[in-house]
Amino acid sequence: MAKPFAEIQVPQQKSVGNFQFPAVLSPHLSDNLDLCRFKEAVKEQKPRIEEILRTSGAVLFRDFPVRTASDFNEIVEAFGYEELPYIGGAAPRSNVVGRVFTANESPPDQKIPFHHEMSQVPEFPSKLFFFCEVEPKMGGETPIALSNRIYNRMKENHPEFVGELEKHGLIYIRVLGAEDDPSSPIGRGWHSTFLTKDREIAEDRARRLGMKLEWTEEGARTIMGPIPAVKEDELRGRKIWFNSMVAAYTGWKDKRNDPEKAVELGDGSPLSPAVVEDCLRILEEESVALPWKQGDLLLLDNLAVLHARRSFLPPRRILASLCK
Ligand code: FE2
Repeated sequence: MAKPFAEIQVPQQKSVGNFQFPAVLSPHLSDNLDLCRFKEAVKEQKPRIEEILRTSGAVLFRDFPVRTASDFNEIVEAFGYEELPYIGGAAPRSNVVGRVFTANESPPDQKIPFHHEMSQVPEFPSKLFFFCEVEPKMGGETPIALSNRIYNRMKENHPEFVGELEKHGLIYIRVLGAEDDPSSPIGRGWHSTFLTKDREIAEDRARRLGMKLEWTEEGARTIMGPIPAVKEDELRGRKIWFNSMVAAYTGWKDKRNDPEKAVELGDGSPLSPAVVEDCLRILEEESVALPWKQGDLLLLDNLAVLHARRSFLPPRRILASLCK
């Protein structure tokens, strides 16, 4: 039996209460791990890794022998979580191997705001894996933030707004073309969003995702919600900021979409720009951005942690895999 992985410290980590955010695990030098042994070790140490994930919400595996997309796929398989197919999400992604996809392929100069993965659809992943296949030349971090801390601080600063938010939820509106538009961070067309070119099938799939689908000249409009914006993280017994308010209001922008019309309160009233701005500031303050190192594998609890993407200079190749 291999020694348990070592918990190491890196400069950008944050101390939160009595734990480090994120936790960083590394092999012992004497372990002499190859991919096969790493897989075994993941299986053996899964309870401990899950315990760390429960506490920290995010675990970075650094300096393990994972080099290619298929290595990554094997490690994800070793964890044994059920795969979540990418239906209803907004980002353009393509399948690389097995259950591994490219992370959002939107242009390098655009940042992607904080979000819980697929928080706008009813079936969202409980965990996400990211893998750094090609280290960014510059930037391109995947900042993370603890969602319960965002909720607490928003409630403290804007008790009335958060009250309304908890009462009504949010409505998201997105205009889609037919085909994918790689120039946009929300550029998935309706064909790939619903994995069909048939309007009736698309309508049916939209309905099952809790969306209304309206046909327009350039494609389709999806209306989601009202859906809850604050959720309970039952595992940890605390409230979380589980919504795409800031992401939609500041980021759902392309030639089809005006971000200020992309999200509203569930009763139809508009959001206050000042509140959105303050939320953005809190997210920045709470965030941790570790520079990616080739071979890094990041495991996120999608309920505990929000993530984002900074702009970068290519090359950069981050892969992702989503679990039920
Ligand atoms: Fe994401």
